[in-house]
Amino acid sequence: IKRLTVPAIRRRKGTEPLVMLTAYTVRTAQLLDPHCDMLLVGDSLGQVVYGLPSTVPVTLEMMAAHGAAVVRGSYHAVVVIDMPFGSYEASPEQAFASAARLLKETNAAAVKLEGGEAMAPTVRFLTERGIPVMGHVGLTPQAVNVLGGYGARGRTEAEAAKIVADAKAVAEAGAFAIVIEGVVEPIAVAITQAVACPTIGIGASAQCDGQVLVGEDMLGLFDRVPRFVKRYDDLATRIDAAAATFAAEVRSRAFPGPDQVYAPKD
Ligand code: KIV
Ligand code: NA
Repeated sequence: IKRLTVPAIRRRKGTEPLVMLTAYTVRTAQLLDPHCDMLLVGDSLGQVVYGLPSTVPVTLEMMAAHGAAVVRGSYHAVVVIDMPFGSYEASPEQAFASAARLLKETNAAAVKLEGGEAMAPTVRFLTERGIPVMGHVGLTPQAVNVLGGYGARGRTEAEAAKIVADAKAVAEAGAFAIVIEGVVEPIAVAITQAVACPTIGIGASAQCDGQVLVGEDMLGLFDRVPRFVKRYDDLATRIDAAAATFAAEVRSRAFPGPDQVYAPKD
């Protein structure tokens, strides 16, 4: 099976919805890949994998290491890697150096970066130099220290207009797709109708051209999740039960049993 390509993703605008989940490890990538058009190595790994308070402390090294693992664990989906805070905002040149390093060290096909009008020249700079860029507008978690939290965006008319302008600017700069996160629904619909590339919603609208969730959130593995997360399983409870059974069997010497020990020959 040949891996999907960025142009194939772009062509899906207005057709079959695009399926995207985050993955940070090889095993999760292997399990999610057959079901997804794209796997996102999200900087949400800061909280989900490393227990950091936000995505702000996430480094390029972390993204490269997890990105390489996800590429090794997948063969079908387009792998997109988040550019971490501080690795791209200063200039298009800084962004190119960081993005090129991510693609060279991981073999992923594309990067994602947060921002709107201010980042449009960077999106164009990278795209024209061979690096496909996915945009990310609305609730942009790397800006938590400016926004003051993770609440939904676009509740005032001015804020709504700014988010639509951000999405248009990123799309016109050549983004192959745009994540719309945490906005009131009509904004997501308006953006989806206004831009030529697919929109990927998270806390946005079913009318987006695709949807993304954090894998661990969707699986019930992460404790605190926003209201836009739907839990498709409760793996935390199952892991807790398995660990409790193991602990009880160790303490009662029921484990290891005859099947788990080596007998001497004959
Ligand atoms: O880091 C992440 O997981 C993301 C998605 C929520 C879009 O950026
Ligand atoms: Na992210």
